[in-house]
Amino acid sequence: MLELKNINAGYDFLQVLWDVSFRVDEGELVALIGPNGAGKSTTLRTIAGLIKLKSGEILFNEKVINDKPTHLISQMGISYVSEKLNLFTGMSVRENLILGAYAIRDKEVQLETLAYIFELFPRLEERKDQLAGTMSGGERKMLAIARGMMSKPQLMLVDEPSLGLQPNLTQDVFSALIQLRERGVTVLLVEQNVNATLSFSDRAYVLEQGKIVMEGPSKEIKANKHVRNAYLGI
Ligand SMILES: Nc1ncnc2c1ncn2[C@@H]1O[C@H](COP(=O)(O)OP(=O)(O)O)[C@@H](O)[C@H]1O
Ligand SMILES: [Mg+2]
Repeated sequence: MLELKNINAGYDFLQVLWDVSFRVDEGELVALIGPNGAGKSTTLRTIAGLIKLKSGEILFNEKVINDKPTHLISQMGISYVSEKLNLFTGMSVRENLILGAYAIRDKEVQLETLAYIFELFPRLEERKDQLAGTMSGGERKMLAIARGMMSKPQLMLVDEPSLGLQPNLTQDVFSALIQLRERGVTVLLVEQNVNATLSFSDRAYVLEQGKIVMEGPSKEIKANKHVRNAYLGI
């Protein structure tokens, strides 16, 4: 579904990604792990069209997308949930969700999608009239992920959903991602919570200093000596 081929990218005077290649197949939940500053967020931003490539190619359903603007990439079916969430804090949960469906013109389809999202996240339905700004940290993450789903994406790029959350809320957010996969949504997940993430993801890539240094089934990555030392403290 998604394929990165020898990506070199970064910011004006700083190259962050060096010859990064990986793929995400339909229906998979793939984890991208690595230390702070490795370039994980930069990778997601690059796929979402927010950063221009120096070289390389990004394919989505066999079409080149790295020459397309962000809004087109999103219309093609890629939804990006940044770590900053970007919720409208003065608007209700329901209004935030509807804004996520702006690309769907048909009101009826919007409402159907909303009903589906509420089925997936009952806690958001209970709070549909509450202002987003008054929600707890975990609820906001949930809302940002749910809003990302309102455009009915085929692929979701999710950056550090557990950042700043207490363990019990982290569990709720991870459960939501697992439910997404059960419903056929493909997910590329960036996470610092390596232990948990390698327990529920299908495959993983390890990014260090802008380079992919390891890849494989999550179970194997979790058992790897370097990963155990560097990320799991075992
Ligand atoms: N907007 C930016 N402008 C310049 N450099 C940036 C910007 N955002 C991130 N960087 C730098 O790019 C590198 C990778 O950052 P990032 O992709 O955020 O890493 P990660 O998400 O793995 O922690 C870091 O050295 C960081 O300082
Ligand atoms: Mg990051």
